[in-house]
Amino acid sequence: MSPPFHASDRAGPIASRSGKIAARAFGIAGFRREGAPASSACSARGFCSDFGEMGTLHLGVNIDHIATLRQARYATMPDSKNAEPDPIAAASICERAGAHGITAHLRADRRHIQDRDMERLRANIMTKLNFEMGNTPEILDAAIRIRPDEVCLVPEKRAEVTTEGGLDAIASRRDLLNTIERLHANGIRVSLFIDPDEKQIDCATGLKVEMIELHTGKLANAFTEKVEAQELDRLCQCARHAHDSKLQVNAGHGINYRNIALIHRIPHLTELNIGHAIVSRAIFVGWENAVREMLARMENYNG
Ligand code: PXP
Repeated sequence: MSPPFHASDRAGPIASRSGKIAARAFGIAGFRREGAPASSACSARGFCSDFGEMGTLHLGVNIDHIATLRQARYATMPDSKNAEPDPIAAASICERAGAHGITAHLRADRRHIQDRDMERLRANIMTKLNFEMGNTPEILDAAIRIRPDEVCLVPEKRAEVTTEGGLDAIASRRDLLNTIERLHANGIRVSLFIDPDEKQIDCATGLKVEMIELHTGKLANAFTEKVEAQELDRLCQCARHAHDSKLQVNAGHGINYRNIALIHRIPHLTELNIGHAIVSRAIFVGWENAVREMLARMENYNG
């Protein structure tokens, strides 16, 4: 059976809206029919991976730093009529530019995205909402209430500037299991943000998540060509391993307009989540152009 909707939303909001209706008709879980075991419920896992190989790499725009800019001035005046820029307006422009989804991270310290942003994103976006979160009871309750299409579980440390490393799924397996079960019971697809490590991928498979997001930060920040080559090799190997395990393979962190050329060499990718580089570029060329430029650099993927 052909799965719903993010296969058809390359053309932007209008196609996405009809896709979303199809997704709803399919049942909110869409990808995981109730009662079905993960192995048989994941036509979408296979589909998404296959779709990635057909040449269209999907872009999820991470809009956290739109909120960072607003909070820099208005954190103490959340109801100000002047509070800007608005992450929801930014998300709409991303969709108009052709992005396939919107990603936002509700952190425990609420340093950028706020609960109200997530609610408004849920109500307004036409493509799909990927809710990034640390695995804590408070944020899990928020995710269940907001009902994003997808959750990406990430490690979160209060003092970090941004997510520093991948989740240690092996060490936190038991906690993750409960969270993943609750998310699945609410029709939410789950991704684990992990380092390129086959043991972590095997753990993700055992946890019956639909997707993994491979941490590309080490590749992006490699100081030497040797480290870059090693990291690229690891990412390629792990992408193959995850694909063979029927996981949808996404990637993210530190991807920019230059190193995207390296990302093209990683096989079996379905989606990239990119934030900081697009926000930075937008200062010079405008937000919509920045999204379009990244989409252009993602074309002709031969995963
Ligand atoms: N994916 C994950 C899991 C992240 O935590 C982040 C950063 O919030 C991103 C992707 C986007 O990273 P960047 O802002 O470096 O593009």
